[in-house]
Amino acid sequence: MLEQKQTEQPRTKSMSDYLAPLVREIPPSGIRKFFDLVSGSKDIISLGVGEPDFSTPWHVRDACVYSLERGNTKYTPNAGIYELREAIAEYLYNSFQVKYEPEGEVIVTVGGSEAIDLALRALITPGDEILIPEPCYISYSPITRIGGGIPIGIETFAKDQFKLTAESLKAAITPKSKVLILSYPSNPTGAIMTYEDWLPITKLVEEHDLIVISDEIYAEMTYDNKHVSFAFMPGMRDRTILVSGFSKAFAMTGWRMGYACGHRELISAMLKIHQYTIMCAPSMGQVAALEALKNGLEEKDRMMESYNQRRRLVVKGFRDIGLECHEPQGAFYAFPSIQSTGLSSEEFAQRLVTEAKVAAVPGHVFGMGGEGFLRVSYAYSVNQLTQAIERIGKFLKSL
Ligand SMILES: Cc1ncc(COP(=O)(O)O)c(C=O)c1O
Repeated sequence: MLEQKQTEQPRTKSMSDYLAPLVREIPPSGIRKFFDLVSGSKDIISLGVGEPDFSTPWHVRDACVYSLERGNTKYTPNAGIYELREAIAEYLYNSFQVKYEPEGEVIVTVGGSEAIDLALRALITPGDEILIPEPCYISYSPITRIGGGIPIGIETFAKDQFKLTAESLKAAITPKSKVLILSYPSNPTGAIMTYEDWLPITKLVEEHDLIVISDEIYAEMTYDNKHVSFAFMPGMRDRTILVSGFSKAFAMTGWRMGYACGHRELISAMLKIHQYTIMCAPSMGQVAALEALKNGLEEKDRMMESYNQRRRLVVKGFRDIGLECHEPQGAFYAFPSIQSTGLSSEEFAQRLVTEAKVAAVPGHVFGMGGEGFLRVSYAYSVNQLTQAIERIGKFLKSL
């Protein structure tokens, strides 16, 4: 057999000189960076990863296996199989009273992640300002920059339960503002927006003619108030690209199944990019997602009850050990303040790992307003959560 010879070729440029400047300048994910530090260390309780601790329900896995056994291994239509788009439209209508046509207004994507990317790439003209309430999910700003847009962070505050207020949105809007990214229930804060909270935001969106990308991936995960989709608000449906998926509520992170719904002209622009880059979401994942919507709703509700119990445990736990913690109303994250310790979030999180063997994500990686907080996922066992809080309590006493 021929062996490849690795001879050093003299090069005048370094590899990084070949990279697109935009990509070179973007820092790697702060969460990854933190967990690279942690990987390999023993006895650490990690509350860092934002994914359900449940495996995908058995009947969903089974539907996929059965479909594979029947030889369903081919490309699907670009927008996804019709039955799945129909089931998504029906599910959104039944759950959140937003109405979409399966043909032309729904596209099945590779996770909510692809849907966010498609939406931004379909909308951005270089130089457009993209408004992003923060702290928020870490991908919005880098994807905006890769698309040539300018991310404009809007700080939200614990005193407002990290809700977006009309005053701060108004202050951030300029003639260059084109898109507002909304993400409620929020990762990392657990904040939600009610119908009344949305109303003044809709006025500004209308007044300034903005398009909204509403990432509602945690829509099913609210505890005391039902989720209100931004697309449900009067006049907002056709200005909104609703992004969601199966990762969180249906415990299907690894399947990479998501979707976007919206005005047919926007969806058809997104479909064009999807056609050329992805072709279609994986066919086996689509079969599984369809099964989750058809027969998995009860199991989803049972998982939600379990997260709710853990939410109460964690919030009480943090308060008992002396950390201020607003009550998260959605998703599966708590966002306690560590300001009383006088440490920065990075320093707190690093020392917490080395001295107390608990890993959580420092709040500053989620953007403006995140410094002074720690993101803790409570999608872990009660045992792990209880032990972690005990360790954090001891660590606080040692400071
Ligand atoms: C707010 C938010 N949006 C989107 C995603 C991406 O989800 P998906 O697995 O569907 O790509 C995540 C994942 O953590 C998230 O927290």
